[in-house]
Amino acid sequence: MELIHLSVFLLACSFCVMRVGSFGVNWGTEISHPLPAQMMVNLLKSNGVDKVKLFSPDTNVLRALAHSGIEVMVGVPNSLLVAMADAAQANLWVQNNVVRFRMSGTDIRYVAVGDETFNGGPNGVYSASIRPALSNILHALNRAELGDQVKATVPMNAGDLLDGSLPSNAAFKEDIAQEAAQIAALLAQNGCPFTININPFLSLYNNNSYSVDGIFFDSHALPVEDGAFVYHNVFDISYDSLDVVLENAGYTNMEIIVGAIGWPTDGDIHANSSNAQRFNQGFLDHAANGTPRRPNRRIEFYMLSLIDEDMKGISQGNFQRHWGLFRYDGKPKYPLSLSANAEKLSAAVGVQYLPQQWCVLDTTIVDTSTLPGSITYACNNADCTALDYGGSCNGYLNDTGNASYAFNAYYQMQNQDVGACSFNGLGHIITDNPSNGSCEFIIQLAYDSSAALKQKISALAVALMVFLVVL
Ligand SMILES: *[C@@H]1O[C@H](CO)[C@@H](O)[C@H](O)[C@H]1NC(C)=O
Ligand SMILES: *[C@@H]1O[C@H](CO)[C@@H](O)[C@H](O)[C@H]1NC(C)=O
Ligand SMILES: *[C@@H]1O[C@H](CO)[C@@H](O)[C@H](O)[C@H]1NC(C)=O
Ligand SMILES: *[C@@H]1O[C@H](CO)[C@@H](O)[C@H](O)[C@H]1NC(C)=O
Ligand SMILES: *[C@@H]1O[C@H](CO)[C@@H](O)[C@H](O)[C@H]1NC(C)=O
Repeated sequence: MELIHLSVFLLACSFCVMRVGSFGVNWGTEISHPLPAQMMVNLLKSNGVDKVKLFSPDTNVLRALAHSGIEVMVGVPNSLLVAMADAAQANLWVQNNVVRFRMSGTDIRYVAVGDETFNGGPNGVYSASIRPALSNILHALNRAELGDQVKATVPMNAGDLLDGSLPSNAAFKEDIAQEAAQIAALLAQNGCPFTININPFLSLYNNNSYSVDGIFFDSHALPVEDGAFVYHNVFDISYDSLDVVLENAGYTNMEIIVGAIGWPTDGDIHANSSNAQRFNQGFLDHAANGTPRRPNRRIEFYMLSLIDEDMKGISQGNFQRHWGLFRYDGKPKYPLSLSANAEKLSAAVGVQYLPQQWCVLDTTIVDTSTLPGSITYACNNADCTALDYGGSCNGYLNDTGNASYAFNAYYQMQNQDVGACSFNGLGHIITDNPSNGSCEFIIQLAYDSSAALKQKISALAVALMVFLVVL
């Protein structure tokens, strides 16, 4: 009897040990109608996400994360790198964005200095600032007596390593090698991890004849032998390449964090849910096992990304707005099991939508001379990335449908304001869902950043009135 109980207990516990595995996500906030931060934190908790990485120190988000049990990596945005090269500014940033939130219960563990700026970023403007910025942030953390609890790191892109070589031949690309080595030295001296973003999707996006063998973790078509090590996927090759580079520089076993890994679901021919599920599930199952050079060592990672961002820049491609594990409304896009007991992602709870109405092109109007201008205007101010080649609406809509899609995207972006469906008389509002196949005409959420602001201002006004009354 006792024995049976014990074995049942052990069996149950072998599951609970597996569930303890850590799960990180990037939480981007370039969103027109963000779900309330507290609802997002509940979503993270209900899915067992225990680490988030923020690209910038969003006050609402950092506050909502207080006392949540979730660890935070907060980013210094690229646009502030030049300023951070000034010690006083770096001190101020750390006070305002790390010390302050830690004091109110937000478990900030890392500061990410910039994002993928090793190659200088656009126009190379950041190159000279990264190392001084890192050094100043490290000093500021030490000054705040947080050097042991909060570590700095500098996320690089896997593309900053020499391409196509075996891990044993790996090196930083020549133009960044010297700077990267000095950054690695600074990180190592301060017990900080190295962070690398690895997104094989981009290889496929940039090169249509790139072989998909080896991109997905279930493919065994690519055994690449590197001395004693055998590789079956490009992720392991990238990760172990960095391991070799760091080891050659004298930093054996330096901690490596994967700062971004994932797969988008729209905006490109390869960006769809089935590829995303295959890649992400494969990676999650793989992460516990480590890589050939670092076997049986759980890979620390932050998935790209938590939720779709309809205002994200698309200079790199339309897919940039579609990295989310969750749709804009907090629903999971596809099943993903985060642990051995095959749990699926669960949706955000309590989400409120605007009314079920859409703005479409009124096909009874004869003079359509202003139509092209209207479509351009709508798409410049809303998200039309699903319309282009490879997008979820491409092939599901004719020209009329395209125009309607653009009109609706703008109308929803403007919170279904009646005036936002005018388009010189070409738009009209309907209540039958015009979606077709994979092409969804969305209903926007009943939250938007400007509404949130108005609420805050009126709360402030009330507070002020109370204050005056008390006086
Ligand atoms: C594209 O990928 C193919 C197959 O891996 C490779 O042979 C080719 O060199 C790549 N092209 C470029 C421009 O990188
Ligand atoms: C997803 O994209 C791949 C190309 O990368 C394609 O072969 C596959 O059919 C697509 N799946 C769906 C469901 O569209
Ligand atoms: C829906 O998409 C299919 C192609 O998949 C197309 O044949 C059909 O005309 C579309 N319907 C509408 C209403 O646009
Ligand atoms: C609009 O509709 C046509 C089909 O008539 C399609 O070929 C085209 O690519 C669509 N998208 C855009 C952005 O024009
Ligand atoms: C586009 O498709 C809709 C719905 O199927 C149809 O009513 C309309 O006539 C089509 N328009 C054009 C220009 O083909």
